[in-house]
Amino acid sequence: MNRKVTVVGGAGNVGATVARGVADKQLADVVIIDIADQKAAGVALDILEACPIWGSDSRVLGTGDYAESANSDIVVITSGLPRKPGMSRDDLLNVNYKIMQQVTEQVVKYSPNCIIVPVSNPLDAMAQAVYRLSKFPRERVVGMAGVLDSARMRAFIAKELNVSVDNVHAFVLGGHGDTMVPLPRYSTVAGIPITDLLPKEKIDALVTRTANGGAEIVNYLKTGSAYYAPAASAVEMVEAILKDKKKILPCAAYLEGQYATKGLYVGVPVKLGRAGVEQIIEIKLTPAEQAAFDKSAAAVRELVEKLKL
Ligand SMILES: NC(=O)c1ccc[n+]([C@@H]2O[C@H](COP(=O)([O-])OP(=O)(O)OC[C@H]3O[C@@H](n4cnc5c(N)ncnc54)[C@H](O)[C@@H]3O)[C@@H](O)[C@H]2O)c1
Repeated sequence: MNRKVTVVGGAGNVGATVARGVADKQLADVVIIDIADQKAAGVALDILEACPIWGSDSRVLGTGDYAESANSDIVVITSGLPRKPGMSRDDLLNVNYKIMQQVTEQVVKYSPNCIIVPVSNPLDAMAQAVYRLSKFPRERVVGMAGVLDSARMRAFIAKELNVSVDNVHAFVLGGHGDTMVPLPRYSTVAGIPITDLLPKEKIDALVTRTANGGAEIVNYLKTGSAYYAPAASAVEMVEAILKDKKKILPCAAYLEGQYATKGLYVGVPVKLGRAGVEQIIEIKLTPAEQAAFDKSAAAVRELVEKLKL
């Protein structure tokens, strides 16, 4: 196998689960990098030893040495603090920005042609930071959040209507925070908008639960945040890129005027393929939806401005 995916922060919950997903699906060889280098080595060995059972020939290695990550096709960045109960993602801004500075320098040095998928929070601001720090073209820095937010909404819709998740599509735009913009009009069951299937109160409740989906889990876990669904979301993006699937997924992408937003990472539908973000898909929003998007983008911009990038 000659494709290589590196997960920085891969000894942590989200990163280890991403590494596991990439190896389990035999998408690429996997390098786990973490300042906790011994833990990285242990997690990698554990995953490697599962590969015979999964029938996967992925080679998996864990280390603190970025040289091992050289010439990766994709680098997923999950290094950084997760939030605790009572914290918002935005509370992680400064501490995780410092980590992005250290990590991005090494990623660019060893894998100058890779596509970077930031996952660390606050997601949109960290994606913007990695974009500026790496000086990569915008196509090659694409943040993970929308896939997760829509997966959460899909799970809630499927449960509410007692239908297969396979039939459910959900659409969530905007920043990965309290102001995210779930769009019921574009959320469908077997092609039928949920606005035709559920009363407004039910839809409002689904939308609110989606926007608070991360906090709901933090409150249960107490000592960390969600990782199975976030990792599965990042793996879906990795797969779309490596297999050049041209898959339309909601991701944090750098907008240059689309959705009336300029110079900012915000969640929008993009076409993901071998070149990274191959297209930003613009859909027509109602004035109310555009206003919600603007509010969400403004919240992201406020955070980004604090970083003085
Ligand atoms: N975008 C999303 O939708 C989403 C979803 C879930 C979690 N997250 C974010 O992902 C991040 C990771 O969450 P987690 O639950 O895996 O946390 P975790 O604490 O389990 O793992 C973080 C890992 O990063 C490592 N690390 C810290 N500083 C580093 C550095 N400078 N270089 C290399 N490695 C370093 C730590 O040693 C640790 O292993 C958090 O910021 C969290 O908020 C984002």
